[in-house]
Amino acid sequence: MAKGKNTVFFCRKCGYESPKWMGQCPACREWNTFEEEPLTAGAGAGFRPGASSSGRVLKPVSLSGVEMSRQQRLTSGIGELDRVLGGGMIPGSLVLVGGDPGIGKSTLLLQVCRHVAAENKKVLYISGEESLQQIRIRAERIGDFSDSLLLLCDTNLDDIAEVLKREKPAATVIDSVQTMYSEAVSSAPGSVSQVRQATNLFLQLAKTLNITIFLVGHVTKEGVVAGPRVLEHMVDTVLYFEGDRYAAYRILRSVKNRFGSTNEIGVFEMRKDGLAEVPNPSEYMLNGKPEGASGSVVACSMEGTRPILVEIQALVCKTGFGLPRRTAAGADLNRVNLLMAVLEKRASISLSSCDAYINIAGGIRMNEPAIDLGIVLAVVSSYKDIPIHDRTICFGEVGLSGEVRAVSMPAQRVQEAGKLGFERCILPKVCVTEHLKCEGIEIVGVSNVREAIACMG
Ligand code: TYD
Ligand code: MG
Repeated sequence: MAKGKNTVFFCRKCGYESPKWMGQCPACREWNTFEEEPLTAGAGAGFRPGASSSGRVLKPVSLSGVEMSRQQRLTSGIGELDRVLGGGMIPGSLVLVGGDPGIGKSTLLLQVCRHVAAENKKVLYISGEESLQQIRIRAERIGDFSDSLLLLCDTNLDDIAEVLKREKPAATVIDSVQTMYSEAVSSAPGSVSQVRQATNLFLQLAKTLNITIFLVGHVTKEGVVAGPRVLEHMVDTVLYFEGDRYAAYRILRSVKNRFGSTNEIGVFEMRKDGLAEVPNPSEYMLNGKPEGASGSVVACSMEGTRPILVEIQALVCKTGFGLPRRTAAGADLNRVNLLMAVLEKRASISLSSCDAYINIAGGIRMNEPAIDLGIVLAVVSSYKDIPIHDRTICFGEVGLSGEVRAVSMPAQRVQEAGKLGFERCILPKVCVTEHLKCEGIEIVGVSNVREAIACMG
């Protein structure tokens, strides 16, 4: 084996890269899987617009010299998806849709195909997981399909590339990228090198043929199949589909978007005839909130540019054993523990001998610190067994000294509360300004948790 700086070693099984040969792969623990490859194979991978064959002379251009062709966005026909994509699909972009098995990725993308096909644009749905019959059965549930939708069941990358070049569809769905394989790569389908190879090829096809390609990627906990995380940097847009499998709603979250803002979310509901958009998620999340119950508070969290109201529930009771039990569903448990310690120390509420169970109703996950005040008030309400007024919402970050800190976009949050008929809003005092006013809402500014608790009832 020629030793030099221009070669690297790859694990055949998992794609682990190493500058030297190793007997056992530290990533997948497989023995004798390292192979020497020229460095360019890995490093040069990826699409380079204007890449030249060796003879050409490259000429850099100034920014103003770049032709501006208005990118015509294609609508996917699903408003919630369009907003997550930043206003529609860009021709020539590669979109990765990740999510747990069974969450509804295939269903969503088949619905996109349906809408695009309905506009007499050719779409190709390539499945490596399901047979044509299975797709047909799913399609029957969703509705009528135009004949512009073409189906293909195959997993061979080279053949699929030929089909794409021949058919030149406006949009294509690859379900899923983990099932695709190229004969040029010796590892099994789903391994990192295969998935990388597939993504590279689709990236090139998307750019050269100017088609929107959706890649479906599974996320597995064990890492048996290569998760789509390794390809996040290669694609233009990464969307994650999440939600409780047992709850009906699903959230589509954008974590990377070269053509729009990230952190936008789209909310869907899984029905018996496919995914339906949820235009007003707050209303949906607050559905079924108990009236006059202690330990239940409505808080507001921003998801991208969109305020969402959620019900935070707490159940605080005397612990039966020496060690108090605490759980948090939908919120970060460490954060909950921290907030309870703040209450203990700064508001003199002795919670050290209490069990506490926190839940964000609806199964939604919220990570924004703005829900801190909601958690605090829910815990106190349950501890004291005093219900909080039903038409009250709160938001604010709680610091370690018990202070209630400012959060972003307070006006949007207050407006959302007003839209849903809330009458009182407890928020950080520093956020209270003149233009925060909203008709029919009493604004209560608080500067620490003691004040917040005092105006709770
Ligand atoms: P699916 O799109 O197959 O998930 P993924 O491709 O992410 O693995 O969705 C599967 C689930 O959705 C399945 O449990 C059945 C359910 N479902 C409905 O409830 N209604 C429907 O109309 C469809 C098509 C699926
Ligand atoms: Mg699927």
